Amino acid sequence: MANLLKIKHIESDWQKTKDGAISVGIYNSLQLSRQLQGVNKKLGQAISHSISAGIIKGKTGEVNRVVGKKGLVVYVYGMGKKGNLNPESLRVSSAAVAKACINDKINSVAFLMPAEAKDLASSQATAEGLVLGSYQFNEFKTTRDDISLLESASIVGGDKKSIEKGSVIANSVCFARDLENRPGNIATPSHLAEHATKIGKSSSVKVTIFERDKFTKMGMGALAGVASGTEEPPKFIIMEYFNGPKNEKPKILVGKGLTFDSGGISIKPAAKMDEMKYDMCGSGVVLGAMRAISLLKPKMNVVGIVPSTENMSGDKAYRPGDILTAYNGKTIEVLNTDAEGRLILADALAYASKHYDPEYILDFATLTGAVVVALGHVASGIMGTDPKLISYIQKSSSVTGEKVWEFPLWDEYLEQVKSKIADVKNLGSPGQAGTIAGGAFLKEFVKNEIPWCHFDIAGSAWGDKKLSYQNPGSATGEIIRLVLDLLKV
Ligand code: BES
Ligand code: MN
Ligand code: ZN
Repeated sequence: MANLLKIKHIESDWQKTKDGAISVGIYNSLQLSRQLQGVNKKLGQAISHSISAGIIKGKTGEVNRVVGKKGLVVYVYGMGKKGNLNPESLRVSSAAVAKACINDKINSVAFLMPAEAKDLASSQATAEGLVLGSYQFNEFKTTRDDISLLESASIVGGDKKSIEKGSVIANSVCFARDLENRPGNIATPSHLAEHATKIGKSSSVKVTIFERDKFTKMGMGALAGVASGTEEPPKFIIMEYFNGPKNEKPKILVGKGLTFDSGGISIKPAAKMDEMKYDMCGSGVVLGAMRAISLLKPKMNVVGIVPSTENMSGDKAYRPGDILTAYNGKTIEVLNTDAEGRLILADALAYASKHYDPEYILDFATLTGAVVVALGHVASGIMGTDPKLISYIQKSSSVTGEKVWEFPLWDEYLEQVKSKIADVKNLGSPGQAGTIAGGAFLKEFVKNEIPWCHFDIAGSAWGDKKLSYQNPGSATGEIIRLVLDLLKV
């Protein structure tokens, strides 16, 4: 893991920090707060010089390095317009400071909270930003001389507990990013199962893993069908966290753990096929959230389920035209072996519906290229059966800054996944509403009375977002923070 692991909390006096640099905020009005005046004095007026030279503008996301006569390094971060400061802008700022430190090979920093940011969410967001901004994926570099890490940090001011919580949550996001960024030959279904087991060993999460023989005998014909083309052992992973009242219904998180998607016999084009190592980001959401839950120990009941396999071609692989029988007994006509995510999720959703009495089920999957066409890498597509659940999700989204956009699951779309010779088919109408067709298919495997929401994270899970707390061309770990907010962890 190459990211900041722990954050110290210092009550108020920044002069007590032993860090290599400090970081202070300035509004775009450019007036020095009392705190800044103190720092400026220590620097020999260097901050006011940078202001009059027009270098410091105070815009959100902006970070300028100012060095005083005695070598004290200060990162001045912009806070935008006074009155507009919010948790997201602090998350952006602290992450930008972490990135500046890494760039300058400074390995510890003290971040001074603005006195106005008194709410708990601001403290949590600042901690999240420091950790997320410090994340680098470099475990496969054998020459490490040019690698600089942010090794320690403190936050001066703010709420200690919220800072700790933010740090645990962001570390869980980084844990998921590591799994997601690892290539298909490393992050195999066994790798995911090992990490799930590890979470279980150090906490009260009970982990159960069904191997190929077992889940095939149990009737998970859809997962077995997709997995038939690979010798890499597929896994059906269940993580149970029961720490709430006995009669409280569990919330269930299901994630697509497709560790490499070649398309199978309906093979994908060669260009960018490497990106299909990210096809397990749905399982990253589940594992990341379960890790955070196992550490924060909230009083609630949550179950994580990850069906995991590769999707390969070969003489044992499933074929276009095959008919598979899912765990709930429904038959599926496979018209394209590349629409495999919905197949493995079908068994997981049916399993969740049958074996638990859930308050709701959420599923996360890099399901369709169509959602990238619709929303780019900016937002996740969501759709579901319960308007109340959707509205809670939208509310959490506005708290965590992880954007979601709702698609409709109208009857016309549900019709499009009906098959002539089986119950359903794994494609909708060619060239039409591909993301909704995915959701419409999944709905067939969730018991009607269970509130359910599907997240298509094919765009948001990785990509090119220019955000200080994410790295372009790399896994984002998005939606984990949203889920934890929704669960009220
Ligand atoms: N894993 C892909 C979806 C995907 C595409 C994720 C691009 C990230 C970036 C999924 O299994 C898939 O192949 N979907 C097909 C569905 C189609 C055959 C109905 C797609 O989107 O092309
Ligand atoms: Mn596919
Ligand atoms: Zn896929």
